[in-house]
Amino acid sequence: MTSILQCMDCGATYPIHHVVYSCASCGGLLDVQHDWDALRPQLTRERFDTRLGALDTPYNSGVWRYQELIYPDIPHDLIVTKPEGNTNLYNLPKLAQWAGVRELRLKHEGENPTGSFKDRGMTSGVSHARVLGMTRVACASTGNTSSALASYAALADLEGIIFLQNRQIALGKLAQGIAYGATCLQINADFDRNLELVRAVSEELNIYVLNSINPFRLEGQKSIIFETIQQLSWQVPDWIVCPGGNLGNSSAFGKALYELYTLGLIDRIPRLAIIQAEGASPLYHSYQNGFQSFQPMKAETIATAIKIGNPVNYPKAVRALKWTNGVVEMVTDQEIMDAKALIDAAGIGCEPASACSLAGTRKLVEAGIIQAHERVVGILTGHVMKDPDATIGYHSNTLEDITPHYANRIYQAGDDIEEIKRVLSKQPQPQA
Ligand code: F0G
Repeated sequence: MTSILQCMDCGATYPIHHVVYSCASCGGLLDVQHDWDALRPQLTRERFDTRLGALDTPYNSGVWRYQELIYPDIPHDLIVTKPEGNTNLYNLPKLAQWAGVRELRLKHEGENPTGSFKDRGMTSGVSHARVLGMTRVACASTGNTSSALASYAALADLEGIIFLQNRQIALGKLAQGIAYGATCLQINADFDRNLELVRAVSEELNIYVLNSINPFRLEGQKSIIFETIQQLSWQVPDWIVCPGGNLGNSSAFGKALYELYTLGLIDRIPRLAIIQAEGASPLYHSYQNGFQSFQPMKAETIATAIKIGNPVNYPKAVRALKWTNGVVEMVTDQEIMDAKALIDAAGIGCEPASACSLAGTRKLVEAGIIQAHERVVGILTGHVMKDPDATIGYHSNTLEDITPHYANRIYQAGDDIEEIKRVLSKQPQPQA
């Protein structure tokens, strides 16, 4: 076996076949650690390049293409894949100009099978659930993790159980969980409390938890970084910018970059910028005081995906920031929705939380932290169709405290050719 679980704080180790989410002796978060010395001869750029365009499972997946970096020993017949990944990396000069940088590419993780990056973590997490022989898997979710879990559990013939916050789950996400046949529990509590509840209940009922506290989830999500850098012909950008909620993704990014660098697959580490919504910004405030203290908060933001006040992966995110000389920024709901409108109008589209990447880039440029000549990759985490209420609310100017600076209004016309022609003769359109 070339992998173990290891506590990030005290170094205690556990076999990967143990169902454990935090260190039994000190409570620290666990990492999956692979035996790099044994694996090193197999870890070449050429190996991963040869698999590009593969038609066979699992290497046709943008996660399993990097199997040796993610879960080297898993038997292929236990892998549950749709396949995920292989998402586009868009070069967007107009948005780069708006943000104030020479080059901005957006990696669209909303193009995954269930519409968010969570599929990359769910393929590794649900596959590991099968290795463990678990029959029930569960998560608390703001909506995307639950969509992915419901889909992958159904595919694997496992029972999927999802704990949904009672308010503010985006419509598309609620519909997905129900449609994929999960056991759906709407609970009168926010995400942070639901995560505590799912952990407590699952321990008693022998259910496998697939939130990002589960280190196998994060192994799959590392592939966002692997794929991005491979798409750039292994030339690293200067910055990678992503939204931060429960901080699983940013933790995975830090681990991926650290591993690529120590394995000699890249020659320098790009800087990570984690962007939080102002109303859900405990990492930002901790960053401001040099990580001296960490204060959970009651979260509130229109970007419901990241409406999280007590992120479980905080210690791993801090580690990721240290490894990458990273920074944290926060953006207002107004900035999020305006940036989303521009991403949408560029023909790309995303859900509100994803727009943190663009809004945050612009803000970091204004602050002089990202330089105009630098190359930036922003991560779009979820699909535009996930949250139709937010989109329509913005463009019809019905969102409280938000002014739609880039509104695309809906015109009305009767069943009358002359009237339609009159409407079409004046066509003010939103411009970046
Ligand atoms: N963007 C989207 C679209 C998300 O769904 C999430 C998290 C994030 C960003 C933040 O990622 O938690 O790794 O920092 N959504 C989780 C969920 C919490 O339940 O779907 P993170």
